[in-house]
Amino acid sequence: MHNNTILQVRDKQFTVSYPEAQILEQVARVAAEINRDYEGQEPVFLAILNGSFIFAADLMREITLPCEISFVKMASYEGTSSTGVVREMIGLGVDITDRPVIIVEDIVDTGFTMAHMIDTLKRHNPKSIDICTLLLKPQKLQVKLDIRYCALEIPNQFILGYGLDYDGYGRNTRDIYTVVE
Ligand code: IMP
Ligand code: MG
Repeated sequence: MHNNTILQVRDKQFTVSYPEAQILEQVARVAAEINRDYEGQEPVFLAILNGSFIFAADLMREITLPCEISFVKMASYEGTSSTGVVREMIGLGVDITDRPVIIVEDIVDTGFTMAHMIDTLKRHNPKSIDICTLLLKPQKLQVKLDIRYCALEIPNQFILGYGLDYDGYGRNTRDIYTVVE
């Protein structure tokens, strides 16, 4: 059992909801599924910064396939008044044409970020695209997404830790915490 010590991050309080051991068990399970499904292929992992950096590090060390990893970021710009906010993917330093791509994300919430990511990647003509997310909030999903790999499905509450942040803070915990309402 884990304790229920309060973690204070900025103006909010959090308690442990997913201890590190449980997370790592599920990360290993997902990695085993990928190792099985991609046998004979050489996938390119594309991890979305910043939130997925710890998940990506743990996942990759369970992958036994020949593979590459690259880290990308979605940058937002204020466009012209007609286009509003423009989101552009930066950092794709690898040619994904005709290659199987696995997107590594920290959390799929509404799914808008992931849907946009997939649209952007399709323009580079990869062989295939699969989603691998650490966390999914099924109750909040608003777009149709085929999520092939998911480590943990969680309720509709704000969480942090293991790479995920609240206002930029709290990424540096081993366990995942849920906000105390
Ligand atoms: P979406 O486009 O609504 O799916 O948003 C996904 C992004 O929102 C994630 O990549 C996170 O950066 C952020 N996010 C959503 N829910 C949480 C949460 O509970 N904790 C921390 N970040 C979250
Ligand atoms: Mg994110």
